Amino acid sequence: MDELQNQFELIADGLAEKGYGIAENFLSKEEVAAIRGLKVLQSDIETLQKAGIGKENKQINEAVRGDHIQWIDAATAPMELKIVLEKIELLRTYLNRTLFLGLKDFEVHIARYPAGAGYKRHLDQFKKDDHRKISVVCYLNEGWKAEDGGQLKMYFPDHSLEVLPEGGKLICFRSDSIEHEVLPAGRERASLTGWMLDQYSDLRHL
Ligand code: OGA
Ligand code: MN
Repeated sequence: MDELQNQFELIADGLAEKGYGIAENFLSKEEVAAIRGLKVLQSDIETLQKAGIGKENKQINEAVRGDHIQWIDAATAPMELKIVLEKIELLRTYLNRTLFLGLKDFEVHIARYPAGAGYKRHLDQFKKDDHRKISVVCYLNEGWKAEDGGQLKMYFPDHSLEVLPEGGKLICFRSDSIEHEVLPAGRERASLTGWMLDQYSDLRHL
């Protein structure tokens, strides 16, 4: 079985059994390095939009959420990102075939957290919009160490789990049920973050 299929299987098994799945090597070191070179990651972080909370009437509250984001338009994305979008699309159809999730589309943004910023405990589904089914986060940090912090902390009924945001790692989890938090890091923390939806993305109408 080829390596990508292997990664897909790990994610699908994890989602089915525990509500989350991790692929340690979804992207190669070279793919991460190529994305790191893009303007969206190299530019001054203030040139990206400050992330808001909620779907309508977005509020900016840095005490809750301190990242800066840029939505990715698949049609105009640079080749380095298109490669990742294609892998996520293959994963979407794989999850539909194996877990019958009825996922129709996905939408992603680049997220950059300046040193010291985090995202307090939350669920990814909006109160009035439950179309986000599976959260997908692919980390873009080179040489990340445990002491850099920035873990994704997931909460379960009787335990919690911390995942380091190491470059190339992909984590998927159920958007409707897994509460999670981004712990502050000692250095900037970057990811490609998105959601698989049970309808077509609004981004198509932008
Ligand atoms: C989010 C989020 C997790 C992470 O953007 O909603 O929870 O590890 N991200 O970046
Ligand atoms: Mn989240």
